[in-house]
Amino acid sequence: MVAAFDRSFRLLVLPGDGIGPEIVGQTLRVVERFGAELDIDFQITQGLVGGASIDTNGTPITDAVVDQARASDAILFGAVGGSRWDDRPRATRPEMGILRLRQSLDLFANLRPAVCYSELLDASALRAELIEGLDILIVREATAGVYFGLPRGQAIDADGARRAYDTQAYTEAEIARICHVAFQIARTRQSRVCSVDKANVMETGALWRTVATEVAATYPNVALSHMYADNCAMQLLRQPRQFDVIVTDNLFGDILSDAAAALTGSLGLLPSASLSAPMASGRPRALYEPIHGSAPDIAGQGVANPIGTILSFGLCLRHSLGLSDAADRLERAVRAVLADGVRTRDIAAGRPSVSSAAMTDAILAALDRSSSPELTSNPV
Ligand code: IPM
Ligand code: MG
Repeated sequence: MVAAFDRSFRLLVLPGDGIGPEIVGQTLRVVERFGAELDIDFQITQGLVGGASIDTNGTPITDAVVDQARASDAILFGAVGGSRWDDRPRATRPEMGILRLRQSLDLFANLRPAVCYSELLDASALRAELIEGLDILIVREATAGVYFGLPRGQAIDADGARRAYDTQAYTEAEIARICHVAFQIARTRQSRVCSVDKANVMETGALWRTVATEVAATYPNVALSHMYADNCAMQLLRQPRQFDVIVTDNLFGDILSDAAAALTGSLGLLPSASLSAPMASGRPRALYEPIHGSAPDIAGQGVANPIGTILSFGLCLRHSLGLSDAADRLERAVRAVLADGVRTRDIAAGRPSVSSAAMTDAILAALDRSSSPELTSNPV
């Protein structure tokens, strides 16, 4: 549930690297439009993250930006990374910016939809009949597991050989809370949750399965199934439509969400949300970002697809502001534009394509055609 808000909303914008600034810039036009239409005062501040922050501050994110993020109602994040920073030690690479935000703000619930747009059926590597109508939501745990488990490190053994180790660890509470998120969202969809683990091999997998089963007992109208992660990877390629909601740990979720996104053929279109538990205000802390990366090869050309970021703002309307009608309207506007044949280069399949700005113009025009004022805030 999202509490009613006082129509002022602090949005921290972290454009990042590569195409990040361009796609975020286009998305801010959509933010501005909804602000005017719905009478929401978006108080926008910008900050540096990733390589942009490394170049200026020597670190992928400063304490000041983390503090600003904590004080914001939501974060709109572009993308980070690029070959220029690839040789740096892992702890100071651009990616650490997003990992630190996830951990510092306890953004444990990473929602990654993989939706197939019928207009783009031919862009998938899979046959159209396998993915038509595909609508999967991967609910990835994002603040624990092997990404953050201790001890971790590298050492030299007595015989002089190098050794490296990470720790996969989950508490019962960490598993339960992500399962609750998955079950709650499943109730608004097809009411099916597939919990993915390696219970056949790993202790964390065994606990994951036990806790998922316990949580499921409190949602009698949602069906739970279990699947091993390797089988899940295969099933995503063979019969992806069998899935509704997939709930899984940090590492499996990282891998499976890339696979699921790629098979939609819509990588540039997919948004994501990272949410904390609700705070006293009733809102979660939240970070919204497209699934795709910083695409340095096309940065600065004004041709990147802004839809993934624009739809990420749609998730902000839905999950932070409780404006699900507005979010639905934005999603419909994007579909209308795709149905009209408007394409950025990544989805043009050799046909004529438009710039990032022209794509955004088309989405704004589609919104104008559909607009109807929405003055109340609805629960998610
Ligand atoms: C993702 C990315 C990140 C992750 C990287 C950039 C740290 O791959 O969001 O999926 O591994 O979580
Ligand atoms: Mg990833």
